Amino acid sequence: MKLTFRLIFSLFIGITLVVTVFSYIQIKDEENRLKADIERRSIILAESLKESIIAMVETSQTDRLNRLVEKFGNRERLKGVAVFDASGTVISSNSFIKSYISKTPVEVANVLAEKFPKSKFIKIDKEKFYIYVIPIFSDTLEEEHLIGALALFQDASYIDVRMKELWKQNIMSLLVLTISIVAISLIVIKWNITVTVARMSEWIKELRTGKIKSSLNEVAIKGDVLAPLVNEVTTLVKSLSMAKARTDEESPVVTDSLWTAKRLREFIKEELGDKKLFLISNREPYMHIKEGENIKCVVPAGGLVTALDPVMKACDGVWIAYGAGDADKIVVDEEDKIRVPPEKPSYTLKRIWLTKDEEKKYYYGFSNEGLWPLCHITYVRPIFRKDDWIEYQRVNNRFADALIDEIKYEESPLILVQDYHLAIVPLLAKQKRPDAKIALFWHIPWPNPEVFGICPWAREILIGMLGADLIGFHIQFYCNNFLDTVDRFLESKIDWEHFSIERRGHVTNVKSFPISVSVEDFSINLNNREEIKKKLLGELGIKVEYIGVGVDRIDYTKGILEKFLGIERFLEKYPQFIGKFSFIQFGSPSRTRIKQYREIMDAIEEAADRINWTFQTSNYKPIIFLKGHHSHSKIIPFYNIADLCMVTSLHDGMNLVAKEFIASSNDNAVLILSQFTGASRELKDAILVNPYDIESLADAIYEALTMDRQEKEERMRKMRNLIRERNIYLWTRDLITSLSRI
Ligand code: G6P
Repeated sequence: MKLTFRLIFSLFIGITLVVTVFSYIQIKDEENRLKADIERRSIILAESLKESIIAMVETSQTDRLNRLVEKFGNRERLKGVAVFDASGTVISSNSFIKSYISKTPVEVANVLAEKFPKSKFIKIDKEKFYIYVIPIFSDTLEEEHLIGALALFQDASYIDVRMKELWKQNIMSLLVLTISIVAISLIVIKWNITVTVARMSEWIKELRTGKIKSSLNEVAIKGDVLAPLVNEVTTLVKSLSMAKARTDEESPVVTDSLWTAKRLREFIKEELGDKKLFLISNREPYMHIKEGENIKCVVPAGGLVTALDPVMKACDGVWIAYGAGDADKIVVDEEDKIRVPPEKPSYTLKRIWLTKDEEKKYYYGFSNEGLWPLCHITYVRPIFRKDDWIEYQRVNNRFADALIDEIKYEESPLILVQDYHLAIVPLLAKQKRPDAKIALFWHIPWPNPEVFGICPWAREILIGMLGADLIGFHIQFYCNNFLDTVDRFLESKIDWEHFSIERRGHVTNVKSFPISVSVEDFSINLNNREEIKKKLLGELGIKVEYIGVGVDRIDYTKGILEKFLGIERFLEKYPQFIGKFSFIQFGSPSRTRIKQYREIMDAIEEAADRINWTFQTSNYKPIIFLKGHHSHSKIIPFYNIADLCMVTSLHDGMNLVAKEFIASSNDNAVLILSQFTGASRELKDAILVNPYDIESLADAIYEALTMDRQEKEERMRKMRNLIRERNIYLWTRDLITSLSRI
């Protein structure tokens, strides 16, 4: 039975039952009322006739009696009057009733026997009558003496007629009521349930088949009845969308052909025409520093610069950043600009100057003592100072003003804002230039709402970020966390299928763009690798069979201490490698004005000293810690001669060292990679480790050094193919396409 039919049937039965019961009660009441009425009228009439009739019977005035009986016997509903003597014989009756009372009616006999009035409904010629009989007594004697009975016959057929009418009326009302209720129910069901369920199932189908056309909001699922279902389905959809986005993220890309600097340049020309690209970050890609009498240009350490410099080289444009080098001011022109890189100028670097106090509060304070530990969650407590936040906003305003000035002649310029230092620049820029297309790329992790919520200015930061048209994170997981955070703290409309946020009419898309490197910039082919290895190790004063390499900024998030403890445990556990395995750690000092950075530096140095002291011999040292700034050209040969590379970050947005190593290494090498890096989502052929688990780090080193050559080559080949495809040019193409087509 179909649901609608079942519903109509049940409604019909239900309403019929209820209406029937109520009709029955109502009709019974009416019948009782009519009966009471006829009885009352009969009693009154009988009482009023009684006296005259007694007198006439006692005085045997039969003629008068007959006239009286005839006169009253045909009034309205009173159809018959009959007078009986004590034996039940008719003394007088009107003509209408005569034939009926030829025999003494039972009712009369009963009254004469019991001397008590009686009434009854009877049938005369199939018609309903009400007979009311009273005994009549002679009161001339001292004792009451029964002299007969008076019977009144009232026409009661109208009661049946009335009853029939009432039943008819009620059946009609029942029909009208049933049809109306069924119709209303069907309309209500159609509007509120059928249409909604149909839309919902259509929408779930779209979702299941991956052809999402509409968003949950467009589906317009309303109503309290379905609210719990809607909530459940929304959660389900959210999880499905997240899972799907994650699967898409992890599935290997198959691009038509490789993305190169040249191809990106052509693409940008086609996509943007003559438009320039504007990039804005705190850290500058080239820093000029004094070295004695000379000025040296260095590339600061960090993934942001490594990733974006090739992009700007390929596309030209303007990169606005803080000029942190002590010789930066000397080399710029009157607009604080310089073409970079010095050896082959390809794009413009515009420097912004910060005072010591601004640097202290905006960069060290709010950015690196507040937001950095907040987003990384490596158990370093974030510090939030009001002064830092005020300065952070002021400096963000300064960056935004510089940007606005730079784009004043550009129509709908494309702006790429970088990282957590400039979180509110998107809003500041958007307010002044609504036509600008702004992307904000967040290079570090995004925590869950509970964690982010401890920042006293969480809402302001989110609002600032939402000035962007596009917000990019390295992995889908951070996008999900971000959407959850906005959902928790701001009044906004979140579309979980398309991962977008609408706030006050402005839409921000949130998408993952796993950043990468330019593989060519790191590729190296050493024909005489063994010789070079000997030479490089010789320069470091060691002679070993196996080499491990690590490259990190000295930061508590990088897990360098854990890495050293893992190496120590490895040598304890597998002593056959003492004297045969050395680890070269490049570490560039970073943010040293912050206490935790100085402490981690000391801890690392102490650990390296202790481990070396334990295992070193005259020509053996297990850890070579090279503290200082090292250029890529210096590091790349080490990547290439290494047997393994260890990336042990406790939490890392992406970690480009892992990708650099794959681009530069030889085939017979292994990557040991922390599972807490964004890179671990893509580089599944690395040995994935939990850096907090020192024992597993030791085992991972052993596994890497003893791995079958064929397996190493197979793993390396897969990872290299992946990063060759998913290179920084593809990343830029994706980002720019998403932004320019908004
Ligand atoms: C991370 C950040 C970058 C930063 C880099 C170096 O990769 O995401 O924004 O530039 O660290 O840090 P520094 O404080 O020296 O700029």
